[in-house]
Amino acid sequence: MFDQMLWFVARGSGVVALLMATAAVSFGMLTVARFSSDTWPRFFNLELHRRISLLAVVFIGVHIVAAVLDPWAKLGWSAALVPLISSYRPLPVAMGVVAMYLFVALILTSLLRSRMPEPLWRAIHWAAYAMWPLALGHGFFAGSDAGSLWMMAVDAVAIGAVAASLLLRLSFWDENRSRLEDTVGVSSWDEATRRGRGR
Ligand code: HEM
Repeated sequence: MFDQMLWFVARGSGVVALLMATAAVSFGMLTVARFSSDTWPRFFNLELHRRISLLAVVFIGVHIVAAVLDPWAKLGWSAALVPLISSYRPLPVAMGVVAMYLFVALILTSLLRSRMPEPLWRAIHWAAYAMWPLALGHGFFAGSDAGSLWMMAVDAVAIGAVAASLLLRLSFWDENRSRLEDTVGVSSWDEATRRGRGR
């Protein structure tokens, strides 16, 4: 019974973590693209980008703990921390491990941003473009639900959201290139919010 519960928690939290990582990446791109409409003020993008990113850490943590404790896959803590040593689906699990490290790096460097060189923070933030496909691929190849209709719908929604945000981001590439620092890359939450609201 408890084992069954762990399996459900591992799968459920994995799906929520993927959707949150998707939303975090999408709102990050919408922030730089300065997306807004009559009903969607521009500062929503940055607020959601930051808050969802922080919340995603909780679900990634729950997912990893449940996946390790689930006796069926016999992962062990080392397989959750060192890529490719898992005996259960080594490559797909490694994709999740690398995605997790990239996500943690994105969060930590953003929290410490004011204490690090701007180009370094920016370079690390580009890792989001590697983190998301790794997380998606991990879910697709490691998950037991990958073949089910509902999971395919989740993957389709995730791909659609990131593709739409990316298209918007690319269509505003030149115009917004210099604005990344103005919107995401400012030294404090308050400053970012003030700037996001002010424009
Ligand atoms: C950014 C980090 C991660 C995300 C977004 C993520 C997301 C997902 C998703 C969406 C699934 C598919 C669930 C399903 O089919 O119902 C999954 C499965 C799985 N993940 Fe992760 N994962 C991440 C990191 C990790 C890490 C670090 C580990 C190592 C412990 C891990 C272990 C597993 C295992 C063993 C499964 C298969 C569970 C099963 O369906 O039986 N994941 N993950």
